[in-house]
Formats: sequence, C-alpha cells, structure tokens
Amino acid sequence: MREQVFILKGNIIFSKSRTELEIHEDSYLVCQGGKVKGIYRTLPFRLGGYPITDYGESLIIPGLVDLHIHAPQYSYRGLGMDMELLEWLETNTFPEEARFSDLEYAASSYRIFVENLKKSATTRACVFATVHRPATLLLMDMLEKTGLCTMVGKVNMDRNCPDYIREGTEESASETVEWVKDALGRAYKNTRPILTPRFTPSCTDELMEKLKGIQKEYDLPLQSHLSENPSEIAWVKELCPWAEYYGQAYDRFGLFGGECPTVMAHCVYSGEEEIRRMKENQVFIAHCPESNMNVSSGIAPVRRFLDEGLHVGLGSDVAGGSSENMFSAMAHAIQSSKLRWRLQDDSLKALTVEEAFYMATKGGGEFFGRAGSFEPGYEFDAVVLDDSRLKHPQPLDVKSRLERMIYFSDDREIRAKYVRGKRIEL
Ligand code: GUN
Ligand code: FE
Repeated sequence: MREQVFILKGNIIFSKSRTELEIHEDSYLVCQGGKVKGIYRTLPFRLGGYPITDYGESLIIPGLVDLHIHAPQYSYRGLGMDMELLEWLETNTFPEEARFSDLEYAASSYRIFVENLKKSATTRACVFATVHRPATLLLMDMLEKTGLCTMVGKVNMDRNCPDYIREGTEESASETVEWVKDALGRAYKNTRPILTPRFTPSCTDELMEKLKGIQKEYDLPLQSHLSENPSEIAWVKELCPWAEYYGQAYDRFGLFGGECPTVMAHCVYSGEEEIRRMKENQVFIAHCPESNMNVSSGIAPVRRFLDEGLHVGLGSDVAGGSSENMFSAMAHAIQSSKLRWRLQDDSLKALTVEEAFYMATKGGGEFFGRAGSFEPGYEFDAVVLDDSRLKHPQPLDVKSRLERMIYFSDDREIRAKYVRGKRIEL
C-alpha cells in the first residue's frame, strides 16, 4: 500500500544549521507517511494528483518545541512574580499542586492548559504534572486526544516540601511504577512517560536509587531542574556534600544522560565540570529565559552551550514563565542574552534570531528524535503562520516577516498545525 501523501504550499522556513535559516518561497512541502519527503519549487510530475493545501502568502515553519513546562502551574501564571524561586515554590507552587489530588479539580485545570497548548504553535513538549498518579494519567489522556506529541512526568518528591504534598520514599517509587505501567498499557501514540524527580532538594538519595531501577527496567527518559538559582545550589551543596557539582547529584545515580536520555531545565550556573559532563553524556538543556528573569535566577550562558555543541532547546517553564508561547521564549532568549553580554560577560555575544529559532525547533526537537526540521525524513510537524494582520508600507522578505512574528503576538495567527503528518484541530 502506498503511504499517504499530502502537500502544503507557502513560504517555507526551517533551520539549515544552528546559525542559518533555509527559506523556500512559494514552494511545496511534501509529507509522506507522516515524514517530510521534500521541498520543491516546482512539483515533480510523480507527485501530481496528491491533495495540495495552498496557504498562499503564509509562513510555514516546523512545529515549536517546549522542552520544559509545568501543566498544573498553568492556573497561576503571572502570580507571585515578585518572589524568588524557593519562596515562590513554597508560596504558590506547592499549595496549588496539592489540589491535583482532587481529580475533578485536576480535570478543570488541565482542560484549560491542554486547550491552550493545542492552540499554540507548540507541537511537542516535555511536561511536568504533579505527584498524583491519577491526575497525571488524566493529563496524559487529555494530551493524547489533542494529537500533540508529549512526554509527561508524574513528579517525585519525598523530602523538603509540606506534608500535604510529600510522598514516602517507598510510596513515591511504587506509585511511579504503577503510573508507568498504566501509561504504557494505554498504548498512546503520541504521549510517553518521562521520569520526573522534581529536583535534588525534593528527592532523597534512596529515592534516586529506586528511580534508577525504574528507569532501567522501563527504559525511560528523565527530566528535572539543574543549577537554576544560587539559593537552590547552596542547598544542594548542603544536602549532597559528596557532590562536586550539582549535576553529580543526578549523575551518581545514573540519572544524568548517557543511557538515560535526560533534559535538564535552566543550567544558569553550570560550571566547567558540569558542562563537560553534560556534553559527554548528551544531556539536553532546556533554556527558560522568562522564568529565569521572573524568579530572579539569572541568565544562562547559552552562547557558550551552543558554541560547545551541547544540545539546547527552549522551555516556557510555566508558571516560572508567564506564557506557553514559544515565540515569546525566542524573543526572551535574545533579549536576556543581550543583557548578559552588556552587564555580565562581554565575551559571550548575544544570540541571533537564527539561533533562537533553531533552539525552539530543531535544538529541542532532537530530544524527540528527528523532529523540528523540514529536512527529508524528519517527522512532519508544521505550523502555518498568517501574518497578514501586521501591516507594513515597505516590502519585507520572508526572513524579516518571520523575525517580526517572533515579537508581535497580537498580529500572529496560527492557521493550521500538523503533528507527525496529522492536522490538529485548533
Ligand atoms: N525547581 C523545582 N521545582 C521547580 C518549579 O516548579 N519551577 C521552577 N522554575 N524551578 C523548580
Ligand atoms: Fe520548571
């Protein structure tokens, strides 16, 4: 049987490399069997007869990838943004996340999150849920229905949080096993479980050891937080005096890349050894610039990560970040890199539009395999952007139009979105 083929027409843009865009004006983007077949200025004869959707002047870009977002925090975005990380966790995060023991509340909250994520330009995301198994499975069911491609984690926490949300060590491990079995048993097409120890201060060494066992048994990826904030880092030094750097508090348990595909959010203060080990072990970094500003964490040396060839994507980190919008994350990445260059370290040049776009597409997409690009063989995730509301007297080339769309949320409309070759209902 011939694999299903369809074709989109428009102004096609993707990252040729970290520093360069590839632009095909008024061209055909061909999808075959859920993968990118190719891009053509003139459609070859053999591809005639397949359905074509002509998006006219619209921009067609790879779906955006959010490497770090907290679904239960969606309800309090924009609140407590005058606090620092640890105070904000105590004041806003833990009390709100505790409410997800109530499945009805979880359903009403996750409905809003899922609906808005579906409407956004995001096609893939790494998502934190809460410690609660039933609510996490509910979130996975809801995300699966959207057609988005996600990795979702039941959070683990067995220390340093209020009693009402703290798990016992055994309980945390056994609930995780039950959750993984349930999730795998549901045979989702687009939704995968990802191990989610919240961060070192929340997880005892004993729990980390148990999580390693679960990681190996079920061959799971892992997401967590790393070197985000000075008070957090000082706390990890106290809790794990044996660790020479924060990353070792995961690495010691085999939960820091290598055999365990890992994405770590933030890495604002990662030092030489931590960077070296992340590179060696292919740990992905989720750079979350808006969150890093909002909870006074700092500005990560992203230029250095990119130059050294580390894997870097962008994360919204809602509710540290106020919005799930990954265009905003691109703009924030560029803006904060300029402040870092100006105020902190002029040896690291500011990020370019090309680099921010790369991180939001292919850079993060690689955590999912071949995603985030229109190179042949990549999974067909595409977003069709209508920028016609933004009026301009002068002619603008396609790159300039994309650049403006990154900054002007009010003038941007998502006309269509495809994930793995399937159109998403917006
Ligand atoms: N570190 C541990 N938990 C969290 C969280 O929920 N958000 C952020 N930004 N950092 C964290
Ligand atoms: Fe986070």
